Amino acid sequence: MLRELLEWLVTPAGLAARRHGLVGESVALAARCRRCRTAWEPHLRRCRRAMREAARACPEKGTVVVCGSGHLFDVPLAALAGMFSRVVLADAVHPLRARMAARGFGNVRLAATDLTGLLDAALGWRPGIDLDRIKPVTPTELAARKPDLTISANVLSQLALPVKARLTKLGCPEADILKVCRRIVQAHLDWLMGLPGSRCLITDTMSRDVDGETILDETDLLYGVTCPPGDASWVWELAPRPEAGRHFDQGREVRVVMRGDPKRTHLSEVKNEDAGGGGGLRPCATGNMGNT
Ligand SMILES: C[S@@+](CC[C@H](N)C(=O)[O-])C[C@H]1O[C@@H](n2cnc3c(N)ncnc32)[C@H](O)[C@@H]1O
Repeated sequence: MLRELLEWLVTPAGLAARRHGLVGESVALAARCRRCRTAWEPHLRRCRRAMREAARACPEKGTVVVCGSGHLFDVPLAALAGMFSRVVLADAVHPLRARMAARGFGNVRLAATDLTGLLDAALGWRPGIDLDRIKPVTPTELAARKPDLTISANVLSQLALPVKARLTKLGCPEADILKVCRRIVQAHLDWLMGLPGSRCLITDTMSRDVDGETILDETDLLYGVTCPPGDASWVWELAPRPEAGRHFDQGREVRVVMRGDPKRTHLSEVKNEDAGGGGGLRPCATGNMGNT
């Protein structure tokens, strides 16, 4: 607890990120990673392998941008820094662990980036706000760096959460809030998939609470947005019991989508039989990765 409090106090972050609770989420994620390290390791290994494969398959090795770099648990930083001339880590919160890791490489830069463009504005929203007018703004400053490879690293399902919390606090109707969440998810997907250069999306798409073979609860983490067909998928054992509850284990279905020069076949080694369908699920309730 004391360690988390200290981390929360010393993590540098902008006002909006802090006020929206992103620093707290970042600290909670690291704490959960420590508690569930063994269960998380296969997921983290697969993420790093997918990113390395995307990097190797990328024909130009100028700039790679990693969106949602966070603590770099799932990012093979040394491999990327070795292959590319420049590595840009883009996140609203760069924890100390990531800052220290970045310092070890002369070609790694941190970009304090709001991938939704809504965090600052959301602080000024008041009751009665017209939700139709809330439009995410894509991070043009990242595209301006002309990345040869852009990676979205387990961030897509997290992007709408601060806005959702803010609008819920303002008493907005749930159905309208979910429409805004969907717009945020869709905007990041459209932005990423529309970028020139190679792209690698790694995202959790669905959360499941299970007791053995029995599914107790399912939640669509993308608010009904259709994720492009994947090149690999697996289940991330996010919260084995008793982490989220004493009577169930919580898992996330994770999908990798490669576009650009990396050919689908490059991912054969991370494919497994864990793939499942989507759709027909209720929208995301909380979806935080660090807190239950
Ligand atoms: C689950 S973590 C990603 C895991 C990360 N790749 C790692 O290995 O630690 C989600 C990340 O998304 C970031 N994030 C959430 N909302 C964001 C936003 N609007 N703009 C930029 N980053 C955001 C959080 O700060 C967090 O680092």
